[in-house]
Amino acid sequence: MNSKNYLSPWAMNVSPSPTLAVDAKAKALKAAGEDVCGFGAGEPDFDTPEFIKQAGTQALADGKTKYAPAGGIPELRQALAEQYQEHGVIAEANPAQVIVSPGGKYSCYLAILATCGPGDEVIIPAPYWVSYPEMVKLAGATPKVILAGDDQGFKISADQIEESLSPATKLIILNSPSNPTGCLYEREEMEQIVDLACRKDLLIMSDEIYEYLLYDGSIHYRPASFSEEAAERVITVSGFSKTFSMTGWRLGTLVANPAISKAVASLQSQTTSNATTFAQYGALAAVQNWSQAMDAVNEMLVHFDRRRLKLFDGLNAIEGVSCLRSQGAFYLFPKISGLGMGSEEFSNQLLEKEKVAVVSGHAFGAEGYVRLSYATADEIIDKGLDRLHEFCSNFEF
Ligand SMILES: Cc1ncc(COP(=O)(O)O)c(C=O)c1O
Repeated sequence: MNSKNYLSPWAMNVSPSPTLAVDAKAKALKAAGEDVCGFGAGEPDFDTPEFIKQAGTQALADGKTKYAPAGGIPELRQALAEQYQEHGVIAEANPAQVIVSPGGKYSCYLAILATCGPGDEVIIPAPYWVSYPEMVKLAGATPKVILAGDDQGFKISADQIEESLSPATKLIILNSPSNPTGCLYEREEMEQIVDLACRKDLLIMSDEIYEYLLYDGSIHYRPASFSEEAAERVITVSGFSKTFSMTGWRLGTLVANPAISKAVASLQSQTTSNATTFAQYGALAAVQNWSQAMDAVNEMLVHFDRRRLKLFDGLNAIEGVSCLRSQGAFYLFPKISGLGMGSEEFSNQLLEKEKVAVVSGHAFGAEGYVRLSYATADEIIDKGLDRLHEFCSNFEF
Protein backbone atom coordinates (compact mmCIF):
# COMPACT_ATOMS: atom_id res chain seq x y z
CA MET A 1 0.00 0.00 0.00
CA ASN A 2 1.27 3.50 -0.84
CA SER A 3 2.22 5.04 2.50
CA LYS A 4 0.95 8.39 1.21
CA ASN A 5 -2.56 7.01 1.61
CA TYR A 6 -2.18 7.21 5.36
CA LEU A 7 -1.46 10.91 5.34
CA SER A 8 -3.93 13.77 5.53
CA PRO A 9 -3.94 16.55 2.94
CA TRP A 10 -2.38 18.80 5.64
CA ALA A 11 0.47 16.40 6.29
CA MET A 12 1.10 15.85 2.59
CA ASN A 13 1.29 19.58 1.88
CA VAL A 14 3.37 20.77 4.81
CA SER A 15 7.14 21.20 4.39
CA PRO A 16 9.60 20.78 7.27
CA SER A 17 11.18 24.01 8.57
CA PRO A 18 14.21 24.68 6.30
CA THR A 19 15.97 26.77 8.95
CA LEU A 20 15.77 23.96 11.50
CA ALA A 21 16.92 21.55 8.76
CA VAL A 22 20.06 23.62 7.97
CA ASP A 23 20.85 23.89 11.65
CA ALA A 24 20.41 20.12 12.11
CA LYS A 25 22.68 19.45 9.10
CA ALA A 26 25.39 21.76 10.49
CA LYS A 27 25.13 20.13 13.92
CA ALA A 28 25.35 16.64 12.39
CA LEU A 29 28.50 17.63 10.45
CA LYS A 30 29.99 19.08 13.64
CA ALA A 31 29.16 15.89 15.55
CA ALA A 32 30.96 13.96 12.80
CA GLY A 33 34.10 15.98 13.55
CA GLU A 34 33.84 18.61 10.78
CA ASP A 35 34.88 22.18 11.53
CA VAL A 36 31.60 23.86 10.61
CA CYS A 37 30.86 27.60 10.78
CA GLY A 38 27.13 27.69 11.49
CA PHE A 39 25.19 30.82 10.51
CA GLY A 40 21.93 28.91 10.26
CA ALA A 41 20.44 29.00 13.74
CA GLY A 42 17.92 31.64 14.75
CA GLU A 43 18.87 31.19 18.35
CA PRO A 44 20.84 33.44 20.73
CA ASP A 45 24.07 31.75 21.81
CA PHE A 46 23.81 33.08 25.38
CA ASP A 47 22.38 31.35 28.40
CA THR A 48 19.06 32.50 29.92
CA PRO A 49 19.72 35.23 32.55
CA GLU A 50 20.47 33.61 35.89
CA PHE A 51 17.59 35.19 37.87
CA ILE A 52 15.08 33.87 35.33
CA LYS A 53 16.54 30.38 35.56
CA GLN A 54 16.39 30.57 39.34
CA ALA A 55 12.71 31.55 39.25
CA GLY A 56 11.97 28.55 37.03
CA THR A 57 13.97 26.25 39.29
CA GLN A 58 12.24 27.65 42.37
CA ALA A 59 8.85 27.03 40.78
CA LEU A 60 9.81 23.40 40.21
CA ALA A 61 10.97 23.11 43.83
CA ASP A 62 7.67 24.67 44.95
CA GLY A 63 5.70 22.02 43.12
CA LYS A 64 4.41 24.15 40.24
CA THR A 65 4.28 20.97 38.25
CA LYS A 66 0.56 20.69 37.51
CA TYR A 67 -1.72 21.88 34.73
CA ALA A 68 -2.22 25.64 34.60
CA PRO A 69 -5.19 27.52 33.10
CA ALA A 70 -5.07 27.16 29.30
CA GLY A 71 -4.36 30.86 28.70
CA GLY A 72 -1.49 30.97 31.18
CA ILE A 73 -0.90 31.45 34.90
CA PRO A 74 -3.00 34.43 36.09
CA GLU A 75 0.00 36.35 37.55
CA LEU A 76 1.84 36.30 34.22
CA ARG A 77 -1.23 37.25 32.18
CA GLN A 78 -1.88 40.14 34.58
CA ALA A 79 1.74 41.36 34.48
CA LEU A 80 1.79 41.16 30.67
CA ALA A 81 -1.60 42.91 30.42
CA GLU A 82 -0.23 45.81 32.50
CA GLN A 83 2.83 46.02 30.28
CA TYR A 84 0.77 45.94 27.08
CA GLN A 85 -1.51 48.63 28.49
CA GLU A 86 1.57 50.81 29.11
CA HIS A 87 2.60 50.21 25.51
CA GLY A 88 -0.87 51.29 24.31
CA VAL A 89 -1.59 47.88 22.77
CA ILE A 90 -4.70 47.38 24.92
CA ALA A 91 -6.84 50.07 26.51
CA GLU A 92 -7.23 48.32 29.85
CA ALA A 93 -5.01 45.82 31.60
CA ASN A 94 -7.42 42.99 30.87
CA PRO A 95 -5.62 39.65 31.39
CA ALA A 96 -8.31 37.84 29.37
CA GLN A 97 -6.88 39.47 26.25
CA VAL A 98 -3.42 38.02 26.88
CA ILE A 99 -2.59 34.40 26.10
CA VAL A 100 0.64 32.64 27.08
CA SER A 101 1.40 29.85 24.65
CA PRO A 102 4.11 27.20 24.20
CA GLY A 103 6.22 29.50 21.96
CA GLY A 104 5.83 32.45 19.64
CA LYS A 105 5.52 29.95 16.82
CA TYR A 106 2.39 28.50 18.37
CA SER A 107 1.02 31.99 19.05
CA CYS A 108 1.36 32.73 15.32
CA TYR A 109 -0.31 29.48 14.38
CA LEU A 110 -3.23 30.03 16.75
CA ALA A 111 -3.66 33.64 15.57
CA ILE A 112 -4.00 32.34 12.01
CA LEU A 113 -6.12 29.35 12.94
CA ALA A 114 -8.48 31.50 15.02
CA THR A 115 -9.13 33.95 12.20
CA CYS A 116 -8.59 32.23 8.82
CA GLY A 117 -10.04 29.22 7.09
CA PRO A 118 -10.85 27.81 3.65
CA GLY A 119 -11.64 30.57 1.17
CA ASP A 120 -9.60 33.22 3.02
CA GLU A 121 -6.43 34.81 1.67
CA VAL A 122 -3.56 35.95 3.84
CA ILE A 123 -1.07 38.60 2.67
CA ILE A 124 2.50 37.54 3.47
CA PRO A 125 5.29 40.01 2.69
CA ALA A 126 8.43 38.29 1.39
CA PRO A 127 11.15 37.79 2.47
CA TYR A 128 9.04 36.04 5.11
CA TRP A 129 9.64 33.86 8.13
CA VAL A 130 9.53 30.31 6.79
CA SER A 131 6.59 29.15 8.89
CA TYR A 132 3.96 31.71 7.83
CA PRO A 133 2.92 30.17 4.49
CA GLU A 134 2.84 26.67 5.98
CA MET A 135 0.70 27.82 8.90
CA VAL A 136 -1.73 29.56 6.56
CA LYS A 137 -2.03 26.38 4.50
CA LEU A 138 -2.54 24.30 7.65
CA ALA A 139 -5.49 26.57 8.47
CA GLY A 140 -6.93 25.74 5.02
CA ALA A 141 -6.42 29.35 3.85
CA THR A 142 -4.35 30.62 0.91
CA PRO A 143 -1.06 32.50 1.28
CA LYS A 144 -0.68 35.51 -1.02
CA VAL A 145 3.00 36.42 -1.11
CA ILE A 146 4.15 39.94 -2.03
CA LEU A 147 7.85 40.49 -2.59
CA ALA A 148 9.84 43.47 -1.34
CA GLY A 149 13.48 43.31 -2.43
CA ASP A 150 16.49 45.14 -1.05
CA ASP A 151 15.70 48.08 -3.37
CA GLN A 152 12.77 48.88 -1.05
CA GLY A 153 14.56 47.96 2.16
CA PHE A 154 12.71 44.60 2.21
CA LYS A 155 9.53 46.42 3.31
CA ILE A 156 6.24 46.24 1.45
CA SER A 157 4.20 49.38 1.02
CA ALA A 158 0.50 49.86 1.73
CA ASP A 159 0.05 50.47 -2.02
CA GLN A 160 1.57 47.09 -2.85
CA ILE A 161 -0.77 45.41 -0.39
CA GLU A 162 -3.77 47.30 -1.76
CA GLU A 163 -2.95 46.10 -5.29
CA SER A 164 -2.94 42.51 -4.04
CA LEU A 165 -6.24 42.61 -2.18
CA SER A 166 -9.16 40.50 -3.27
CA PRO A 167 -12.61 40.05 -1.73
CA ALA A 168 -11.14 36.97 0.01
CA THR A 169 -8.31 38.83 1.81
CA LYS A 170 -8.72 38.45 5.56
CA LEU A 171 -5.35 38.97 7.25
CA ILE A 172 -2.04 40.77 6.67
CA ILE A 173 1.07 39.42 8.37
CA LEU A 174 3.68 41.92 9.55
CA ASN A 175 7.00 41.08 11.16
CA SER A 176 9.12 43.99 12.34
CA PRO A 177 12.01 43.63 13.11
CA SER A 178 12.04 40.94 10.48
CA ASN A 179 13.37 37.45 10.21
CA PRO A 180 15.19 37.01 7.78
CA THR A 181 16.18 40.60 6.88
CA GLY A 182 16.44 42.45 10.22
CA CYS A 183 14.55 45.35 8.63
CA LEU A 184 12.33 47.57 10.73
CA TYR A 185 9.23 49.47 9.58
CA GLU A 186 9.11 53.20 10.26
CA ARG A 187 6.03 54.49 12.05
CA GLU A 188 4.62 56.14 8.93
CA GLU A 189 5.08 53.00 6.81
CA MET A 190 3.25 50.95 9.40
CA GLU A 191 0.52 53.54 9.89
CA GLN A 192 -0.29 53.42 6.19
CA ILE A 193 -0.71 49.65 6.37
CA VAL A 194 -2.87 49.90 9.49
CA ASP A 195 -5.02 52.60 7.83
CA LEU A 196 -5.48 50.30 4.85
CA ALA A 197 -6.52 47.43 7.13
CA CYS A 198 -9.10 49.68 8.79
CA ARG A 199 -10.44 50.97 5.46
CA LYS A 200 -10.71 47.49 3.95
CA ASP A 201 -11.93 45.69 7.07
CA LEU A 202 -8.84 43.45 7.41
CA LEU A 203 -7.00 41.94 10.36
CA ILE A 204 -3.25 42.21 10.99
CA MET A 205 -1.04 39.71 12.76
CA SER A 206 1.96 41.66 14.02
CA ASP A 207 4.77 39.28 14.92
CA GLU A 208 6.99 41.27 17.29
CA ILE A 209 9.20 38.47 18.58
CA TYR A 210 12.36 40.59 17.94
CA GLU A 211 10.87 43.80 19.43
CA TYR A 212 13.70 44.37 21.92
CA LEU A 213 16.62 43.43 19.65
CA LEU A 214 17.25 46.83 18.06
CA TYR A 215 20.39 48.69 16.85
CA ASP A 216 21.53 52.15 15.78
CA GLY A 217 19.01 53.75 18.19
CA SER A 218 16.09 52.37 16.15
CA ILE A 219 12.55 52.40 17.51
CA HIS A 220 10.10 49.52 17.30
CA TYR A 221 6.47 50.49 16.67
CA ARG A 222 3.49 48.42 17.75
CA PRO A 223 0.68 48.77 15.20
CA ALA A 224 -2.01 47.87 17.77
CA SER A 225 -1.10 51.05 19.68
CA PHE A 226 -1.91 53.43 16.80
CA SER A 227 -5.65 53.82 17.48
CA GLU A 228 -8.64 52.19 19.15
CA GLU A 229 -9.62 50.60 15.86
CA ALA A 230 -6.07 49.34 15.33
CA ALA A 231 -6.19 47.68 18.75
CA GLU A 232 -9.34 45.85 17.62
CA ARG A 233 -7.81 44.66 14.35
CA VAL A 234 -4.24 43.81 15.29
CA ILE A 235 -3.23 40.53 16.90
CA THR A 236 0.14 41.13 18.57
CA VAL A 237 2.38 38.10 18.86
CA SER A 238 5.63 37.95 20.78
CA GLY A 239 7.48 35.70 23.20
CA PHE A 240 10.44 35.18 25.47
CA SER A 241 12.68 33.04 23.22
CA LYS A 242 14.73 35.65 21.39
CA THR A 243 14.75 38.56 23.85
CA PHE A 244 15.80 36.58 26.91
CA SER A 245 17.60 33.71 25.25
CA MET A 246 14.84 31.33 26.34
CA THR A 247 14.30 29.33 23.13
CA GLY A 248 14.07 26.00 24.92
CA TRP A 249 11.57 27.24 27.49
CA ARG A 250 8.87 27.45 24.80
CA LEU A 251 6.96 30.53 25.89
CA GLY A 252 5.07 32.81 23.54
CA THR A 253 2.47 35.51 23.98
CA LEU A 254 -0.56 36.77 22.06
CA VAL A 255 -2.66 39.88 22.66
CA ALA A 256 -5.86 40.52 20.74
CA ASN A 257 -9.40 41.80 21.10
CA PRO A 258 -11.47 39.79 23.63
CA ALA A 259 -13.30 37.68 21.00
CA ILE A 260 -10.11 36.58 19.25
CA SER A 261 -8.24 35.94 22.52
CA LYS A 262 -11.15 33.82 23.75
CA ALA A 263 -11.07 31.75 20.56
CA VAL A 264 -7.28 31.37 20.83
CA ALA A 265 -7.60 30.20 24.44
CA SER A 266 -10.20 27.61 23.38
CA LEU A 267 -7.99 26.36 20.52
CA GLN A 268 -5.06 26.12 22.90
CA SER A 269 -7.12 24.33 25.55
CA GLN A 270 -8.04 21.66 22.99
CA THR A 271 -4.58 21.25 21.47
CA THR A 272 -1.83 21.74 24.07
CA SER A 273 -3.67 22.67 27.30
CA ASN A 274 -1.17 25.18 28.69
CA ALA A 275 2.42 26.34 28.25
CA THR A 276 4.69 24.50 30.71
CA THR A 277 3.61 25.66 34.16
CA PHE A 278 6.97 26.08 35.93
CA ALA A 279 8.50 27.74 32.85
CA GLN A 280 5.87 30.48 33.11
CA TYR A 281 7.26 31.44 36.52
CA GLY A 282 10.63 32.13 34.92
CA ALA A 283 8.91 34.46 32.45
CA LEU A 284 7.00 36.06 35.32
CA ALA A 285 10.32 36.91 37.03
CA ALA A 286 11.48 38.62 33.81
CA VAL A 287 8.31 40.73 33.48
CA GLN A 288 8.16 41.61 37.17
CA ASN A 289 11.86 42.58 37.30
CA TRP A 290 11.88 44.37 33.99
CA SER A 291 14.88 46.64 34.48
CA GLN A 292 17.02 43.70 35.61
CA ALA A 293 15.79 41.73 32.60
CA MET A 294 16.54 44.60 30.23
CA ASP A 295 20.05 44.96 31.71
CA ALA A 296 20.68 41.36 30.71
CA VAL A 297 19.25 41.99 27.23
CA ASN A 298 21.37 45.12 26.78
CA GLU A 299 24.46 43.12 27.63
CA MET A 300 23.59 40.60 24.90
CA LEU A 301 22.87 43.46 22.50
CA VAL A 302 26.41 44.81 22.86
CA HIS A 303 27.70 41.49 21.52
CA PHE A 304 25.02 41.18 18.82
CA ASP A 305 25.73 44.71 17.60
CA ARG A 306 29.50 44.16 17.36
CA ARG A 307 28.92 40.94 15.42
CA ARG A 308 26.30 42.58 13.19
CA LEU A 309 28.72 45.28 12.09
CA LYS A 310 31.62 42.86 11.64
CA LEU A 311 29.50 40.57 9.45
CA PHE A 312 27.92 43.48 7.59
CA ASP A 313 31.33 44.98 6.70
CA GLY A 314 32.80 41.58 5.87
CA LEU A 315 29.94 40.63 3.54
CA ASN A 316 30.00 43.94 1.70
CA ALA A 317 33.74 43.55 1.15
CA ILE A 318 33.11 40.42 -0.97
CA GLU A 319 32.86 41.11 -4.68
CA GLY A 320 29.44 40.10 -6.03
CA VAL A 321 27.79 40.28 -2.59
CA SER A 322 25.84 43.25 -1.23
CA CYS A 323 24.10 43.56 2.09
CA LEU A 324 21.68 46.08 3.62
CA ARG A 325 22.41 47.28 7.14
CA SER A 326 19.81 45.61 9.34
CA GLN A 327 18.29 47.42 12.32
CA GLY A 328 16.93 44.60 14.40
CA ALA A 329 16.84 40.86 15.21
CA PHE A 330 20.12 38.99 14.60
CA TYR A 331 20.13 38.32 10.86
CA LEU A 332 21.68 39.73 7.71
CA PHE A 333 20.24 38.95 4.30
CA PRO A 334 22.90 39.61 1.65
CA LYS A 335 22.18 39.52 -2.05
CA ILE A 336 24.30 36.93 -3.81
CA SER A 337 22.64 36.97 -7.23
CA GLY A 338 25.65 38.98 -8.51
CA LEU A 339 27.65 35.76 -8.28
CA GLY A 340 25.51 34.16 -10.95
CA MET A 341 24.37 31.19 -8.88
CA GLY A 342 20.97 30.38 -7.36
CA SER A 343 20.71 30.75 -3.59
CA GLU A 344 19.91 27.07 -3.02
CA GLU A 345 22.97 25.92 -4.96
CA PHE A 346 25.08 28.62 -3.32
CA SER A 347 24.18 27.44 0.21
CA ASN A 348 24.60 23.75 -0.67
CA GLN A 349 28.01 24.27 -2.25
CA LEU A 350 29.15 26.60 0.52
CA LEU A 351 28.35 23.96 3.12
CA GLU A 352 29.88 21.18 1.09
CA LYS A 353 33.10 22.94 0.05
CA GLU A 354 33.79 25.40 2.87
CA LYS A 355 31.68 23.96 5.72
CA VAL A 356 29.80 27.22 6.17
CA ALA A 357 26.07 26.88 6.93
CA VAL A 358 23.72 29.64 5.69
CA VAL A 359 20.04 29.41 4.74
CA SER A 360 18.98 29.86 1.12
CA GLY A 361 16.79 32.90 0.44
CA HIS A 362 14.52 30.53 -1.44
CA ALA A 363 13.25 29.27 1.95
CA PHE A 364 12.10 32.82 2.77
CA GLY A 365 10.42 33.42 -0.59
CA ALA A 366 13.31 35.55 -1.89
CA GLU A 367 15.58 33.96 -4.48
CA GLY A 368 19.02 35.54 -4.92
CA TYR A 369 19.70 36.10 -1.22
CA VAL A 370 20.93 34.03 1.72
CA ARG A 371 20.32 34.46 5.45
CA LEU A 372 23.12 34.55 7.98
CA SER A 373 22.42 34.63 11.71
CA TYR A 374 25.05 36.46 13.76
CA ALA A 375 23.82 34.89 16.99
CA THR A 376 27.12 33.07 16.99
CA ALA A 377 30.65 33.56 18.36
CA ASP A 378 32.99 36.24 16.96
CA GLU A 379 35.56 33.58 16.03
CA ILE A 380 32.96 31.79 13.91
CA ILE A 381 32.13 35.05 12.15
CA ASP A 382 35.83 35.74 11.43
CA LYS A 383 36.48 32.23 10.20
CA GLY A 384 33.19 32.08 8.27
CA LEU A 385 33.95 35.37 6.50
CA ASP A 386 37.41 34.12 5.47
CA ARG A 387 35.82 31.00 4.02
CA LEU A 388 33.11 32.98 2.27
CA HIS A 389 35.79 35.21 0.70
CA GLU A 390 37.61 32.11 -0.47
CA PHE A 391 34.42 30.53 -1.83
CA CYS A 392 33.29 33.67 -3.66
CA SER A 393 36.74 34.41 -5.09
CA ASN A 394 36.26 31.39 -7.34
CA PHE A 395 33.42 33.09 -9.19
CA GLU A 396 34.28 34.93 -12.37
CA PHE A 397 32.88 38.38 -13.08
C1 LIG B 1 9.65 35.79 13.02
C2 LIG B 1 9.55 34.74 14.06
N1 LIG B 1 8.37 34.59 14.70
C3 LIG B 1 8.21 33.66 15.64
C4 LIG B 1 9.24 32.82 16.00
C5 LIG B 1 8.95 31.79 17.05
O1 LIG B 1 9.79 31.76 18.14
P1 LIG B 1 9.50 30.81 19.37
O2 LIG B 1 8.49 29.81 18.97
O3 LIG B 1 10.80 30.22 19.74
O4 LIG B 1 8.97 31.72 20.46
C6 LIG B 1 10.47 32.91 15.35
C7 LIG B 1 11.56 31.96 15.64
O5 LIG B 1 12.45 31.74 14.87
C8 LIG B 1 10.64 33.92 14.38
O6 LIG B 1 11.80 34.09 13.74
